[in-house]
Amino acid sequence: MSENLIIDNNASKEDKYVTLLPQIEAVIDGEPDIIANMANIASMIHETFQFWWTGFYRVIDCQLVLGPFQGPMACTRIKFGKGVCGTAWKEAQTIIVKDVDQFPGHIACSSASRSEIVVPLKVNGEVVGVLDIDSEKLSNFDSTDQKWLEKVAVLLSAVYKS
Ligand code: SME
Repeated sequence: MSENLIIDNNASKEDKYVTLLPQIEAVIDGEPDIIANMANIASMIHETFQFWWTGFYRVIDCQLVLGPFQGPMACTRIKFGKGVCGTAWKEAQTIIVKDVDQFPGHIACSSASRSEIVVPLKVNGEVVGVLDIDSEKLSNFDSTDQKWLEKVAVLLSAVYKS
């Protein structure tokens, strides 16, 4: 694969994901280490979209524990059902928050964050972690992000199974 991430800054959101997904696939192909793969994926998504915060939490001993990320420092542990991340874990489904101030129990790791998407990582139906992305813009996430980020989650799920 190319050493540099290919990004067309003038492309639409959909087209950026179209370019990004095969690059993610190529980077994680044959690499069984989940942390290494999460680290590269966080970087690639973050660089492509210039989000405020992009990263992973892993389920360890019944809590979400901070994993590889890009952006400002974040809270280390999140309990089941707490915040957007803990709720996505509990419900085992993607949550899009258009305005974090309107989400009861939102955990504000950074006051700059205005909207958020959390995608659960599932292995055989069980949530093993989440991909969490924050934006400093309101309503920055929609069904396009959900569709593509869930594809990323499926790619990572295959690594867990390998
Ligand atoms: N806002 C998240 C916490 C994690 S940070 O955004 C990185 C939440 O409410 O779960």
